[in-house]
Amino acid sequence: MTRSKRKWDHIEYALSTGQTRMTGFDDITFVHQSLPNIALSDVKLDVKIGELFLSSPIFINAMTGGGGEKTLQINRDLSIAAHETKIAMAVGSQMSALKDPIERDTYRIVRKENPNGIVIGNLGSEATVDQAKAAVDMIEANALQIHLNTVQELTMPEGDRDFTGALKRIETLVEQLNIPIIVKEVGFGMSMETVKQLASVGVSIVDVGGFGGTNFAKIENERRARLLSYFNDWGIPTAVSIIEAKEQHPHLSIIGSGGIQTSLDMVKSLALGSTAVGLAGYFLKILLKDGLTKLIEEINETKTDLTMMMTALGAKNISELHQVPLIISKDTYHWLNERGIN
Ligand code: FNR
Repeated sequence: MTRSKRKWDHIEYALSTGQTRMTGFDDITFVHQSLPNIALSDVKLDVKIGELFLSSPIFINAMTGGGGEKTLQINRDLSIAAHETKIAMAVGSQMSALKDPIERDTYRIVRKENPNGIVIGNLGSEATVDQAKAAVDMIEANALQIHLNTVQELTMPEGDRDFTGALKRIETLVEQLNIPIIVKEVGFGMSMETVKQLASVGVSIVDVGGFGGTNFAKIENERRARLLSYFNDWGIPTAVSIIEAKEQHPHLSIIGSGGIQTSLDMVKSLALGSTAVGLAGYFLKILLKDGLTKLIEEINETKTDLTMMMTALGAKNISELHQVPLIISKDTYHWLNERGIN
């Protein structure tokens, strides 16, 4: 199978397998406050993750690039949406473009359409320092995501089978690159043990990429003759993963992602301890089903919704949102109890 066919399959299956809504956010309830003592105009959405300043905590998470005209069009539209709404955007894995120069324009378009925006590069943990620097240069990236996707690779017939040495390579990248490195999962979540390992080598931003949204085990299983169905329900729900990461390292910048669809999901993700929220599958679906104008509208409405909910909660900014009281129930409560997190 060609790389470009695989990329298009991922997009089609991401839309058709849908999002499972098993993120754990339904187990989180805010405690309503009747005297928030705040005006809507007091609420500020800007945040700092690591050394990156974002005007809004919402961003478009890594999806595509490479693969030709269709992915070029998707990246062009996503970057126009990012530019118009002033949110950050990550590109999909750039490894194929490092190997094949013809693919580079499908990534460069993201910087072309959004010259002054925050653009984030993306590679897997197999990347060398030279590859990472080339990926950053390709799009003048403000930060670089390194994705961890063991279960996806295992489910992919042509995927990697050797996962040794990833932490050491990440450590070298953190030392050698002069922009922030964000280590991310792709929908299987990060445990507190993983976060501890990453923090021990100097990683200061993690994107938990939790379970409950786009499901790459299901997507890859669609492309297999013999199904590895045991991976279909594998992973740490996003809400749990944010809490585990926070528990491990209160000063780490945490990005909440994986199955985030509504502005309520976003506010819950932020209140649990994340500083930014990434959306991939949901934004892609709006773009491909309803078009660019609708995507821009949706992002702008989401920002308004965040401001409304933060006002109701009496939180003037994301730091104050981290402090609001909430109730954790059902499976998420049970999980945290088992893991000794109170
Ligand atoms: C992705 N994702 C992804 N992640 C990554 O680090 N590099 C990549 O190249 C891709 N490619 C990709 C393609 C498509 C079509 C989708 C939908 C997603 C994973 C993505 O960034 C995110 O971690 C997961 O999709 C979970 O978030 P959502 O989709 O549930 O919001």
